[in-house]
Amino acid sequence: MLSSQKTVSFHDGRSAPQLGMGVWQVENDIASSIVKTAIDIGYRSIDTAAIYGNEAGVGRGIAESSVKREELFIATKLWNDRHGHDSTKVAFEESLEKLGLDYVDLYLIHWPVPKVGLFVDAWECMIQLRDEGRAKSIGVCNFNVNHLEQLLDQTGVLPVVNQIELHPQFQQAELREFHAEHDIVTEAWSPLGRGRLWDDPTLNDIARKRQRSVAQVMLRWHIQLGNMVIPKSVTPSRLEENWRIFDFTLNDDDMAAIARLDRPDGRDGPDPELFRLLKA
Ligand SMILES: NC(=O)c1ccc[n+]([C@@H]2O[C@H](COP(=O)([O-])OP(=O)(O)OC[C@H]3O[C@@H](n4cnc5c(N)ncnc54)[C@H](OP(=O)(O)O)[C@@H]3O)[C@@H](O)[C@H]2O)c1
Repeated sequence: MLSSQKTVSFHDGRSAPQLGMGVWQVENDIASSIVKTAIDIGYRSIDTAAIYGNEAGVGRGIAESSVKREELFIATKLWNDRHGHDSTKVAFEESLEKLGLDYVDLYLIHWPVPKVGLFVDAWECMIQLRDEGRAKSIGVCNFNVNHLEQLLDQTGVLPVVNQIELHPQFQQAELREFHAEHDIVTEAWSPLGRGRLWDDPTLNDIARKRQRSVAQVMLRWHIQLGNMVIPKSVTPSRLEENWRIFDFTLNDDDMAAIARLDRPDGRDGPDPELFRLLKA
């Protein structure tokens, strides 16, 4: 295991590994073995969600690993049809039971679903779960500035993390600036752009120059921006490759070149203002 893994600090006094592993689209029955493999490589942070249908597999992987629970950082998410105070509490208990844990390190609202308009109720419940110590930290995903402002205005509590789509073609400068001003950690989902960027000439030039892969260059870029980052892979050799990003750096020219890859139409996933899927 490489010892130079970095951590980020939260405004609630806690901290998290900067690099973790995502498990979206990982089947429940392979989740346990791939989580165990990742932990053996050195990963300590796993990002799952109720809607991924693999919390039980992730929990088995954790239980079968040789690493103590308190050394791991486990995050899961509340799905869109469970917003509201009481339903959030029930959904949280279901997630804990599937994971086989008595607390999670980070509990996240998966999408704001503003048309339903219950994310503040969900947030109030999550504040309680945090105060009870069952969710050590609480955060959100896919919140725009106006959603974050509503949480602040109505509860006085901001998330420690906002997990958002973020990769070289979709850099979300305005939202990241708001995060920086309010001490919210930016966490990048689809940090590799879900495979659309392998042929990009700029990334390939930098990768050749640094004798690294394009994936490693993108992940290193996230690390140097200060993002938490959770690449997904079910391929052990890629998990290893994605882990080896703490022994090289990108210089200012590399960072500036990647900054220029941002595109107004770079979003790949849904627009958080509109997304309202209730059932998978
Ligand atoms: N909060 C949200 O709304 C939200 C939305 C989407 C995702 N997420 C989270 O973010 C995580 C990551 O996002 P993502 O899964 O969308 O996309 P991603 O991590 O950007 O890309 C995953 C894809 O890249 C491949 N890959 C990984 N490492 C590679 C490497 N070194 N070389 C070549 N290919 C590589 C994987 O293939 P193989 O698996 O076949 O190796 C997979 O097809 C998810 O798993 C999930 O935890 C959150």
